[in-house]
Amino acid sequence: MKRNIQSPEGRLGILLPGMGAVATTFISGVLASVKKIGTPIGSLTQMGTIRLGKRTEERNPRIKDFVPLASIENIVFGGWDIYHDNAYEAAIKAGVIEKTLLDQLKDELCKIKPMPAVFSKEYVKRLSGTNVKSGRNKMELAEQLMEDIRKFKEENKCDRLVMVWCGSTEIYIEESEVHQSIKSFEEGLRINHPAIPPSMIYAYVAIKNGIPYANGAPNLSCDVPALIELSRVTNTPIMGKDFKTGQTLMKTIIAPGLKARAIGINGWFSSNILGNRDGEVLDDPGSFKTKEVSKLSVLDSILEPENNAELYKDIHHKVRINYYPPRGDNKESWDNIDIFGWLGYKMQIKINFLCRDSILAAPIVLDLALFMDLAKRAGMSGIQEWLSFYFKSPQAGEKLNPQHDLFKQLMKLENTLRHMQGEDLITHLGLEYYNADQNVF
Ligand SMILES: NC(=O)c1ccc[n+]([C@@H]2O[C@H](COP(=O)([O-])OP(=O)(O)OC[C@H]3O[C@@H](n4cnc5c(N)ncnc54)[C@H](O)[C@@H]3O)[C@@H](O)[C@H]2O)c1
Repeated sequence: MKRNIQSPEGRLGILLPGMGAVATTFISGVLASVKKIGTPIGSLTQMGTIRLGKRTEERNPRIKDFVPLASIENIVFGGWDIYHDNAYEAAIKAGVIEKTLLDQLKDELCKIKPMPAVFSKEYVKRLSGTNVKSGRNKMELAEQLMEDIRKFKEENKCDRLVMVWCGSTEIYIEESEVHQSIKSFEEGLRINHPAIPPSMIYAYVAIKNGIPYANGAPNLSCDVPALIELSRVTNTPIMGKDFKTGQTLMKTIIAPGLKARAIGINGWFSSNILGNRDGEVLDDPGSFKTKEVSKLSVLDSILEPENNAELYKDIHHKVRINYYPPRGDNKESWDNIDIFGWLGYKMQIKINFLCRDSILAAPIVLDLALFMDLAKRAGMSGIQEWLSFYFKSPQAGEKLNPQHDLFKQLMKLENTLRHMQGEDLITHLGLEYYNADQNVF
Protein backbone atom coordinates (compact mmCIF):
# COMPACT_ATOMS: atom_id res chain seq x y z
CA MET A 1 0.00 0.00 0.00
CA LYS A 2 1.36 3.37 -0.99
CA ARG A 3 1.56 5.84 1.88
CA ASN A 4 -0.37 9.03 1.59
CA ILE A 5 2.31 11.72 1.26
CA GLN A 6 1.51 15.41 0.95
CA SER A 7 3.06 17.02 -2.09
CA PRO A 8 6.26 19.07 -1.54
CA GLU A 9 4.80 22.20 -3.07
CA GLY A 10 6.03 25.62 -1.97
CA ARG A 11 9.21 26.67 -0.21
CA LEU A 12 11.16 24.66 2.33
CA GLY A 13 13.10 26.70 4.92
CA ILE A 14 16.21 24.98 6.30
CA LEU A 15 17.15 26.41 9.69
CA LEU A 16 20.72 25.93 10.84
CA PRO A 17 21.82 26.63 14.41
CA GLY A 18 25.58 27.07 13.84
CA MET A 19 26.67 28.68 10.58
CA GLY A 20 30.30 27.59 10.45
CA ALA A 21 32.22 25.35 8.06
CA VAL A 22 29.63 22.61 7.56
CA ALA A 23 26.62 24.91 7.25
CA THR A 24 28.25 27.34 4.80
CA THR A 25 29.72 24.51 2.70
CA PHE A 26 26.24 23.02 2.55
CA ILE A 27 24.52 26.28 1.61
CA SER A 28 27.14 27.19 -1.01
CA GLY A 29 26.94 23.71 -2.53
CA VAL A 30 23.17 23.84 -2.85
CA LEU A 31 23.28 27.33 -4.38
CA ALA A 32 26.02 26.23 -6.81
CA SER A 33 23.98 23.17 -7.78
CA VAL A 34 20.88 25.28 -8.40
CA LYS A 35 22.95 27.56 -10.64
CA LYS A 36 24.46 24.48 -12.32
CA ILE A 37 28.01 25.55 -11.52
CA GLY A 38 28.49 22.66 -9.10
CA THR A 39 27.36 19.05 -8.70
CA PRO A 40 25.93 17.74 -5.41
CA ILE A 41 28.21 14.70 -5.22
CA GLY A 42 27.76 12.55 -2.13
CA SER A 43 24.07 13.31 -1.84
CA LEU A 44 21.83 10.26 -2.18
CA THR A 45 18.75 12.39 -2.69
CA GLN A 46 20.31 14.15 -5.69
CA MET A 47 22.63 11.55 -7.22
CA GLY A 48 21.53 8.16 -5.85
CA THR A 49 19.37 5.58 -7.58
CA ILE A 50 17.20 2.88 -6.06
CA ARG A 51 16.43 -0.57 -7.44
CA LEU A 52 12.75 -1.47 -7.61
CA GLY A 53 11.21 -4.88 -8.19
CA LYS A 54 13.15 -7.83 -9.59
CA ARG A 55 16.65 -7.43 -11.01
CA THR A 56 15.29 -8.52 -14.39
CA GLU A 57 12.88 -5.55 -14.44
CA GLU A 58 15.77 -3.09 -14.60
CA ARG A 59 13.88 -0.32 -12.80
CA ASN A 60 16.48 1.92 -11.17
CA PRO A 61 15.10 5.45 -10.89
CA ARG A 62 16.87 8.32 -9.21
CA ILE A 63 15.69 8.59 -5.61
CA LYS A 64 14.50 12.14 -6.24
CA ASP A 65 12.29 10.89 -9.07
CA PHE A 66 10.95 8.02 -6.97
CA VAL A 67 9.82 9.79 -3.76
CA PRO A 68 8.27 13.27 -3.64
CA LEU A 69 11.18 15.33 -2.29
CA ALA A 70 11.36 19.11 -2.13
CA SER A 71 13.34 20.46 -5.05
CA ILE A 72 16.62 22.23 -4.25
CA GLU A 73 15.33 25.20 -6.25
CA ASN A 74 12.68 25.71 -3.55
CA ILE A 75 14.98 25.87 -0.53
CA VAL A 76 15.67 28.97 1.59
CA PHE A 77 18.27 29.09 4.34
CA GLY A 78 18.26 30.66 7.78
CA GLY A 79 20.25 30.18 10.94
CA TRP A 80 21.85 31.43 14.11
CA ASP A 81 25.46 31.95 15.11
CA ILE A 82 27.39 33.63 17.89
CA TYR A 83 29.39 35.55 15.25
CA HIS A 84 27.88 38.28 13.05
CA ASP A 85 29.49 37.07 9.78
CA ASN A 86 27.04 36.53 6.94
CA ALA A 87 27.22 33.22 5.06
CA TYR A 88 29.72 34.62 2.53
CA GLU A 89 32.09 35.93 5.21
CA ALA A 90 31.75 32.75 7.27
CA ALA A 91 32.44 30.57 4.21
CA ILE A 92 35.56 32.62 3.37
CA LYS A 93 36.79 32.19 6.97
CA ALA A 94 36.03 28.46 6.96
CA GLY A 95 38.30 28.16 3.91
CA VAL A 96 36.64 25.06 2.51
CA ILE A 97 35.32 26.32 -0.83
CA GLU A 98 37.48 28.38 -3.16
CA LYS A 99 36.87 32.11 -3.23
CA THR A 100 36.32 32.05 -7.00
CA LEU A 101 33.27 29.85 -6.56
CA LEU A 102 32.02 31.74 -3.49
CA ASP A 103 32.27 35.01 -5.44
CA GLN A 104 29.81 33.63 -7.99
CA LEU A 105 27.33 33.06 -5.13
CA LYS A 106 28.18 36.21 -3.22
CA ASP A 107 24.84 38.04 -3.61
CA GLU A 108 22.81 35.13 -2.25
CA LEU A 109 25.31 34.27 0.50
CA CYS A 110 25.59 37.84 1.77
CA LYS A 111 21.83 37.94 2.31
CA ILE A 112 22.00 35.01 4.75
CA LYS A 113 22.73 36.68 8.08
CA PRO A 114 22.79 34.72 11.33
CA MET A 115 20.18 35.55 13.94
CA PRO A 116 21.53 36.06 17.49
CA ALA A 117 22.28 32.71 19.08
CA VAL A 118 21.22 31.05 22.30
CA PHE A 119 24.70 30.39 23.62
CA SER A 120 26.66 30.01 26.82
CA LYS A 121 30.41 29.59 27.11
CA GLU A 122 29.76 27.14 29.91
CA TYR A 123 28.93 24.53 27.24
CA VAL A 124 31.52 25.39 24.55
CA LYS A 125 34.57 26.65 26.38
CA ARG A 126 36.76 27.62 23.42
CA LEU A 127 34.35 30.07 21.76
CA SER A 128 33.12 33.54 22.55
CA GLY A 129 31.01 35.79 20.32
CA THR A 130 28.74 38.78 20.63
CA ASN A 131 25.78 37.81 18.46
CA VAL A 132 24.08 36.23 21.44
CA LYS A 133 20.61 36.52 22.99
CA SER A 134 19.96 37.36 26.60
CA GLY A 135 16.96 36.41 28.71
CA ARG A 136 15.95 35.83 32.30
CA ASN A 137 15.80 32.08 31.89
CA LYS A 138 16.07 29.34 29.30
CA MET A 139 12.33 29.30 28.64
CA GLU A 140 12.50 32.97 27.73
CA LEU A 141 15.37 32.21 25.33
CA ALA A 142 13.27 29.42 23.81
CA GLU A 143 10.42 31.90 23.28
CA GLN A 144 12.81 34.28 21.51
CA LEU A 145 13.84 31.46 19.17
CA MET A 146 10.17 30.74 18.45
CA GLU A 147 9.68 34.37 17.51
CA ASP A 148 12.77 34.23 15.21
CA ILE A 149 11.29 31.21 13.48
CA ARG A 150 7.85 32.78 13.10
CA LYS A 151 9.41 35.90 11.52
CA PHE A 152 11.74 33.90 9.28
CA LYS A 153 8.87 31.78 7.98
CA GLU A 154 6.74 34.80 7.23
CA GLU A 155 9.47 36.95 5.65
CA ASN A 156 10.71 34.12 3.45
CA LYS A 157 7.23 32.84 2.59
CA CYS A 158 8.09 29.30 3.67
CA ASP A 159 5.48 26.58 3.56
CA ARG A 160 7.48 24.15 5.69
CA LEU A 161 10.57 24.22 7.90
CA VAL A 162 13.22 21.77 9.08
CA MET A 163 16.13 22.32 11.46
CA VAL A 164 19.63 20.74 11.37
CA TRP A 165 22.00 21.41 14.28
CA CYS A 166 25.37 22.40 12.75
CA GLY A 167 26.63 24.11 15.91
CA SER A 168 29.76 23.27 17.84
CA THR A 169 30.08 20.17 19.98
CA GLU A 170 29.07 20.95 23.53
CA ILE A 171 30.59 19.52 26.70
CA TYR A 172 29.64 16.02 27.78
CA ILE A 173 26.33 15.89 29.64
CA GLU A 174 24.65 12.70 30.83
CA GLU A 175 20.93 12.14 30.75
CA SER A 176 19.42 12.96 34.13
CA GLU A 177 16.16 13.60 36.01
CA VAL A 178 15.36 16.87 34.24
CA HIS A 179 15.36 15.09 30.84
CA GLN A 180 12.85 12.43 31.81
CA SER A 181 9.49 14.04 30.94
CA ILE A 182 8.11 17.06 29.08
CA LYS A 183 6.96 18.48 32.41
CA SER A 184 10.38 18.19 34.13
CA PHE A 185 12.11 19.54 31.02
CA GLU A 186 9.87 22.61 30.76
CA GLU A 187 10.33 23.23 34.46
CA GLY A 188 14.09 22.90 33.88
CA LEU A 189 13.88 25.62 31.22
CA ARG A 190 12.15 27.94 33.66
CA ILE A 191 14.67 27.37 36.47
CA ASN A 192 17.75 27.50 34.21
CA HIS A 193 18.71 23.91 34.86
CA PRO A 194 22.44 23.42 34.04
CA ALA A 195 21.79 20.08 32.29
CA ILE A 196 19.89 21.88 29.49
CA PRO A 197 22.53 23.21 27.07
CA PRO A 198 21.69 25.50 24.10
CA SER A 199 21.43 22.61 21.61
CA MET A 200 18.54 21.21 23.67
CA ILE A 201 16.78 24.58 23.69
CA TYR A 202 16.88 24.75 19.87
CA ALA A 203 15.70 21.12 19.69
CA TYR A 204 12.86 21.83 22.12
CA VAL A 205 11.72 24.84 20.11
CA ALA A 206 11.79 22.95 16.81
CA ILE A 207 9.97 19.90 18.16
CA LYS A 208 7.41 21.94 20.10
CA ASN A 209 6.52 23.63 16.79
CA GLY A 210 6.39 20.40 14.79
CA ILE A 211 9.59 21.26 12.88
CA PRO A 212 11.62 18.12 12.03
CA TYR A 213 14.96 18.23 13.86
CA ALA A 214 18.29 16.52 13.10
CA ASN A 215 21.34 16.77 15.31
CA GLY A 216 24.68 16.77 13.48
CA ALA A 217 26.86 16.94 16.59
CA PRO A 218 27.43 14.30 19.29
CA ASN A 219 25.83 16.26 22.16
CA LEU A 220 22.55 14.78 23.42
CA SER A 221 20.27 17.50 22.06
CA CYS A 222 17.02 15.70 21.07
CA ASP A 223 18.21 12.31 22.37
CA VAL A 224 16.48 12.46 25.77
CA PRO A 225 13.12 10.96 26.82
CA ALA A 226 11.40 14.34 27.26
CA LEU A 227 12.12 15.46 23.69
CA ILE A 228 11.40 12.05 22.23
CA GLU A 229 8.02 12.14 24.01
CA LEU A 230 7.41 15.68 22.75
CA SER A 231 8.18 14.59 19.19
CA ARG A 232 5.38 12.00 19.41
CA VAL A 233 2.95 14.54 20.83
CA THR A 234 3.68 17.12 18.12
CA ASN A 235 4.08 14.57 15.26
CA THR A 236 7.65 15.61 14.58
CA PRO A 237 10.39 13.47 13.01
CA ILE A 238 13.66 13.64 14.98
CA MET A 239 17.08 12.11 14.51
CA GLY A 240 20.74 12.26 15.49
CA LYS A 241 23.52 12.18 16.53
CA ASP A 242 26.78 13.27 14.92
CA PHE A 243 27.17 13.26 11.13
CA LYS A 244 28.94 10.11 9.94
CA THR A 245 31.82 11.43 7.84
CA GLY A 246 35.60 10.78 7.59
CA GLN A 247 37.14 8.22 9.86
CA THR A 248 33.94 6.79 11.33
CA LEU A 249 32.46 6.40 7.86
CA MET A 250 35.52 4.28 6.97
CA LYS A 251 35.17 2.33 10.20
CA THR A 252 31.56 1.43 9.49
CA ILE A 253 32.52 0.35 5.97
CA ILE A 254 35.48 -1.82 7.00
CA ALA A 255 34.34 -3.36 10.29
CA PRO A 256 31.23 -5.05 8.82
CA GLY A 257 33.45 -6.49 6.05
CA LEU A 258 35.91 -8.01 8.52
CA LYS A 259 33.08 -9.39 10.61
CA ALA A 260 31.34 -10.80 7.54
CA ARG A 261 34.47 -12.92 6.89
CA ALA A 262 34.91 -13.87 10.59
CA ILE A 263 38.30 -12.13 10.71
CA GLY A 264 39.36 -11.38 14.31
CA ILE A 265 40.40 -7.95 15.59
CA ASN A 266 42.77 -7.27 18.50
CA GLY A 267 43.01 -3.53 18.31
CA TRP A 268 41.92 -0.46 16.39
CA PHE A 269 43.88 2.74 16.86
CA SER A 270 42.45 5.86 15.24
CA SER A 271 44.18 9.21 15.20
CA ASN A 272 43.25 12.48 13.50
CA ILE A 273 44.75 15.87 12.86
CA LEU A 274 42.51 18.75 11.96
CA GLY A 275 42.82 22.50 12.16
CA ASN A 276 39.39 24.01 11.71
CA ARG A 277 37.24 25.67 14.40
CA ASP A 278 35.63 22.33 15.13
CA GLY A 279 39.13 20.99 15.90
CA GLU A 280 39.74 23.93 18.23
CA VAL A 281 36.46 23.28 20.07
CA LEU A 282 37.30 19.58 20.35
CA ASP A 283 40.66 20.50 21.87
CA ASP A 284 38.72 21.22 25.05
CA PRO A 285 38.49 17.99 27.11
CA GLY A 286 34.73 18.49 27.81
CA SER A 287 33.81 18.71 24.12
CA PHE A 288 36.30 15.96 23.19
CA LYS A 289 34.68 13.57 25.69
CA THR A 290 31.31 14.03 23.91
CA LYS A 291 32.95 13.25 20.56
CA GLU A 292 34.97 10.34 21.95
CA VAL A 293 31.89 8.59 23.33
CA SER A 294 30.23 8.97 19.93
CA LYS A 295 33.23 7.64 17.99
CA LEU A 296 33.87 4.72 20.35
CA SER A 297 30.29 3.42 20.29
CA VAL A 298 30.59 2.19 16.71
CA LEU A 299 32.73 -0.96 16.88
CA ASP A 300 30.98 -2.86 19.66
CA SER A 301 27.64 -2.51 18.00
CA ILE A 302 28.94 -3.78 14.65
CA LEU A 303 31.15 -6.59 15.97
CA GLU A 304 28.88 -7.79 18.80
CA PRO A 305 31.67 -9.16 21.02
CA GLU A 306 29.02 -10.68 23.31
CA ASN A 307 28.12 -13.10 20.49
CA ASN A 308 31.60 -13.40 18.97
CA ALA A 309 33.95 -13.55 21.94
CA GLU A 310 36.75 -15.47 20.21
CA LEU A 311 37.03 -12.84 17.52
CA TYR A 312 36.19 -9.52 19.20
CA LYS A 313 36.47 -9.77 22.97
CA ASP A 314 38.78 -7.16 24.56
CA ILE A 315 39.52 -5.13 21.42
CA HIS A 316 41.80 -2.23 22.24
CA HIS A 317 39.92 0.66 20.64
CA LYS A 318 41.46 4.11 20.93
CA VAL A 319 40.47 7.39 19.28
CA ARG A 320 42.56 10.54 19.29
CA ILE A 321 41.80 13.98 17.83
CA ASN A 322 44.65 16.45 17.62
CA TYR A 323 44.07 20.12 16.88
CA TYR A 324 46.69 21.11 14.29
CA PRO A 325 45.88 24.53 12.75
CA PRO A 326 47.95 24.28 9.52
CA ARG A 327 45.57 21.62 8.20
CA GLY A 328 42.39 23.71 8.37
CA ASP A 329 39.34 21.71 7.31
CA ASN A 330 41.49 19.14 5.47
CA LYS A 331 41.57 16.52 8.14
CA GLU A 332 44.01 13.63 7.96
CA SER A 333 43.26 10.41 9.77
CA TRP A 334 45.27 7.28 10.37
CA ASP A 335 43.87 3.94 11.40
CA ASN A 336 45.96 0.99 12.44
CA ILE A 337 43.89 -2.18 12.69
CA ASP A 338 45.46 -5.29 14.23
CA ILE A 339 43.61 -8.28 12.86
CA PHE A 340 44.06 -12.07 12.98
CA GLY A 341 43.03 -14.82 10.60
CA TRP A 342 43.21 -18.58 10.07
CA LEU A 343 44.91 -20.27 13.07
CA GLY A 344 45.31 -16.91 14.73
CA TYR A 345 47.96 -15.53 12.35
CA LYS A 346 48.31 -11.79 12.82
CA MET A 347 47.97 -9.14 10.11
CA GLN A 348 47.61 -5.37 9.97
CA ILE A 349 45.59 -2.89 7.96
CA LYS A 350 46.67 0.77 7.70
CA ILE A 351 44.35 3.45 6.44
CA ASN A 352 45.48 6.98 5.75
CA PHE A 353 42.46 9.08 4.77
CA LEU A 354 43.13 12.61 3.57
CA CYS A 355 39.63 13.93 3.68
CA ARG A 356 37.78 17.23 3.70
CA ASP A 357 35.48 17.23 6.66
CA SER A 358 32.86 19.69 5.53
CA ILE A 359 32.85 18.37 1.95
CA LEU A 360 31.78 15.01 3.39
CA ALA A 361 29.26 16.56 5.81
CA ALA A 362 27.48 18.96 3.41
CA PRO A 363 25.59 16.32 1.39
CA ILE A 364 24.46 14.73 4.66
CA VAL A 365 22.84 18.01 5.72
CA LEU A 366 20.98 18.21 2.41
CA ASP A 367 19.78 14.61 2.49
CA LEU A 368 18.64 14.86 6.11
CA ALA A 369 16.75 18.08 5.44
CA LEU A 370 14.96 16.62 2.41
CA PHE A 371 14.28 13.20 3.93
CA MET A 372 12.94 14.57 7.21
CA ASP A 373 10.68 16.94 5.31
CA LEU A 374 9.47 13.88 3.38
CA ALA A 375 8.94 11.96 6.64
CA LYS A 376 6.88 14.79 8.05
CA ARG A 377 4.69 14.96 4.95
CA ALA A 378 4.29 11.17 5.13
CA GLY A 379 2.93 11.49 8.68
CA MET A 380 5.97 9.87 10.35
CA SER A 381 7.02 11.10 13.78
CA GLY A 382 9.44 10.34 16.61
CA ILE A 383 12.89 8.78 16.04
CA GLN A 384 13.55 8.12 12.35
CA GLU A 385 15.83 5.12 12.62
CA TRP A 386 15.82 4.68 8.84
CA LEU A 387 18.11 7.73 8.67
CA SER A 388 20.78 6.07 10.91
CA PHE A 389 22.81 5.84 7.70
CA TYR A 390 23.92 9.44 8.24
CA PHE A 391 24.98 9.28 11.90
CA LYS A 392 27.90 8.13 14.03
CA SER A 393 25.67 7.53 17.08
CA PRO A 394 22.28 6.81 15.60
CA GLN A 395 19.28 7.35 17.82
CA ALA A 396 17.24 4.20 18.20
CA GLY A 397 14.06 3.27 20.03
CA GLU A 398 14.06 2.31 23.67
CA LYS A 399 15.61 -1.14 24.28
CA LEU A 400 16.95 -1.28 20.70
CA ASN A 401 20.65 -1.44 19.97
CA PRO A 402 21.50 1.22 17.40
CA GLN A 403 22.43 -0.14 13.99
CA HIS A 404 25.92 1.03 12.93
CA ASP A 405 26.65 -1.19 9.93
CA LEU A 406 26.51 1.15 6.92
CA PHE A 407 25.14 -1.55 4.60
CA LYS A 408 22.32 -2.57 6.93
CA GLN A 409 21.56 1.11 7.41
CA LEU A 410 21.36 1.62 3.64
CA MET A 411 19.05 -1.37 3.26
CA LYS A 412 16.78 0.06 5.96
CA LEU A 413 16.76 3.47 4.29
CA GLU A 414 15.98 2.07 0.82
CA ASN A 415 13.32 -0.30 2.11
CA THR A 416 11.66 2.57 3.96
CA LEU A 417 11.45 4.53 0.70
CA ARG A 418 10.05 1.46 -1.10
CA HIS A 419 7.57 0.95 1.73
CA MET A 420 6.42 4.59 1.48
CA GLN A 421 5.73 4.17 -2.22
CA GLY A 422 4.07 0.76 -1.93
CA GLU A 423 6.88 -1.11 -3.73
CA ASP A 424 8.02 -4.63 -2.72
CA LEU A 425 10.73 -4.64 -0.07
CA ILE A 426 13.98 -6.19 -1.27
CA THR A 427 15.52 -8.95 0.85
CA HIS A 428 18.25 -9.98 -1.65
CA LEU A 429 17.23 -13.62 -1.27
CA GLY A 430 17.03 -14.08 -5.05
CA LEU A 431 16.23 -17.82 -5.15
CA GLU A 432 13.36 -17.14 -7.54
CA TYR A 433 15.79 -16.33 -10.36
CA TYR A 434 17.10 -19.92 -10.26
CA ASN A 435 14.10 -22.00 -9.23
CA ALA A 436 11.31 -20.46 -11.25
CA ASP A 437 10.12 -23.89 -12.40
CA GLN A 438 10.26 -25.47 -8.89
CA ASN A 439 8.13 -24.59 -5.95
CA VAL A 440 11.04 -23.95 -3.56
CA PHE A 441 8.91 -22.46 -0.87
N1 LIG B 1 32.52 18.25 9.41
C1 LIG B 1 32.31 17.03 9.77
O1 LIG B 1 32.74 16.10 9.11
C2 LIG B 1 31.50 16.75 10.99
C3 LIG B 1 31.18 15.41 11.26
C4 LIG B 1 30.42 15.12 12.36
C5 LIG B 1 29.97 16.12 13.18
N2 LIG B 1 30.32 17.40 12.91
C6 LIG B 1 29.86 18.41 13.85
O2 LIG B 1 29.17 19.42 13.17
C7 LIG B 1 29.28 20.61 13.92
C8 LIG B 1 29.71 21.73 12.98
O3 LIG B 1 31.01 21.50 12.50
P1 LIG B 1 31.80 22.68 11.76
O4 LIG B 1 33.03 22.08 11.19
O5 LIG B 1 30.89 23.43 10.89
O6 LIG B 1 32.23 23.57 13.01
P2 LIG B 1 32.43 25.16 13.03
O7 LIG B 1 33.14 25.44 14.29
O8 LIG B 1 33.02 25.65 11.75
O9 LIG B 1 30.94 25.72 13.08
C9 LIG B 1 30.14 25.62 14.22
C10 LIG B 1 29.46 26.96 14.40
O10 LIG B 1 28.52 26.83 15.46
C11 LIG B 1 28.49 28.07 16.14
N3 LIG B 1 27.84 27.83 17.40
C12 LIG B 1 28.32 27.23 18.51
N4 LIG B 1 27.38 27.19 19.46
C13 LIG B 1 26.27 27.77 18.94
C14 LIG B 1 24.98 28.03 19.45
N5 LIG B 1 24.64 27.67 20.68
N6 LIG B 1 24.09 28.65 18.63
C15 LIG B 1 24.42 29.01 17.37
N7 LIG B 1 25.65 28.81 16.86
C16 LIG B 1 26.55 28.19 17.63
C17 LIG B 1 29.92 28.49 16.19
O11 LIG B 1 30.05 29.86 16.40
C18 LIG B 1 30.42 28.08 14.82
O12 LIG B 1 30.34 29.12 13.87
C19 LIG B 1 30.29 20.35 15.04
O13 LIG B 1 29.60 20.04 16.23
C20 LIG B 1 30.99 19.12 14.55
O14 LIG B 1 31.52 18.33 15.60
C21 LIG B 1 31.07 17.75 11.83
